[in-house]
Amino acid sequence: ANTYLTGIKPTGDFHLGNYIGAIKPALAASGEYDTYYFIADYHALNTVKDADELRHSIRSGAATWLACGLDPERTVLYQQSRVPETFELTTILSALTPKGLMNRAHAYKAARDRNTEAGITDLDAGVNMGLFNYPILMAADILVMESTHVPVGRDQSQHLEYTADIAGYFNHRYGTGYTFPVPKGVIDDSDASILPGVDGRKMSKSYDNHIPLFLPQNKLKKAIRRIPTDSTPVEDPKNPDASVPFQLLTHFADADKVAEVRGRLEAGGMGWGELKNELFEAVEAELAPKRERYEELMAEPERIDEILKAGSERARERACRVLARVRAAIGAA
Ligand code: TYM
Repeated sequence: ANTYLTGIKPTGDFHLGNYIGAIKPALAASGEYDTYYFIADYHALNTVKDADELRHSIRSGAATWLACGLDPERTVLYQQSRVPETFELTTILSALTPKGLMNRAHAYKAARDRNTEAGITDLDAGVNMGLFNYPILMAADILVMESTHVPVGRDQSQHLEYTADIAGYFNHRYGTGYTFPVPKGVIDDSDASILPGVDGRKMSKSYDNHIPLFLPQNKLKKAIRRIPTDSTPVEDPKNPDASVPFQLLTHFADADKVAEVRGRLEAGGMGWGELKNELFEAVEAELAPKRERYEELMAEPERIDEILKAGSERARERACRVLARVRAAIGAA
């Protein structure tokens, strides 16, 4: 049977990019397959070092999944740290994974490049072991549930390739005792699948160019108004594909609306202000009911905690079964 699994780091509130890249496609698969969606709190620990902040973000993350339509009867919603078998598997997989593979990981390389650019001679300055080991922990998340499909945004494709490699190392060595299914990424490979942030780069908290998913209406309107645009006069023709508000619109409005707006921008006569109004209307129509559910849920933190705890128990049962077989296969039991 197919098992779909995905995780999101609780490093502050979720943003529009998480919604388009992960939450929406993941929820489209629930009901049809076994689905395991989780809050990757120990991945967030690499950057979030404040206990209250982490606690809030875990709750907010769970409430976001629920508000977006996750049904906890049909999908196991859980917290990574409540499934400690994940970390045991990380240790086992670490023993099989060449360090060189981790040296080539994008996030680690990017941290070193930033040091090079800043003229810092110790290229590993500011890099913790959590960042270095990140891909092995992610492989363990995926393999511990015997996942077959992992819906993620395109920025995660290297992590999925690494997971397949790491599963391969294990299967090659211990395959007669136990074999992991080799998971596939469910990734929209088109350029348009990465949601841009307000500055046109990938929307990301680390670039500080993100729009939080459940901003109150007036703040959402302001955030959209503040998206930088050039000074092309209203009456002049414009290139929609070079415009951030238009790219965002393509993800939130229906195809007819997108085509209509494209035509009007190309013909001239539609200004950026009007485009931003269209964008606000589309985002608001999609998110307003979800934001309302989110706020209701956040007013009942005990309920969220209960759902997360019950889901984590279900996830852990599965992880325990897998780990028992893995321990036997490697000779530890
Ligand atoms: P994270 O927390 O950075 O992002 C969560 C999900 O949101 C997607 N995403 C985007 N998609 C489109 N456009 C964007 N601008 C955008 N920004 C983020 C990401 O692709 C991701 O799917 N390593 C993962 C978390 C993780 C995980 C896992 C995922 C930990 N263990 C196991 C799957 C399976 C991460 O950092 O995602």
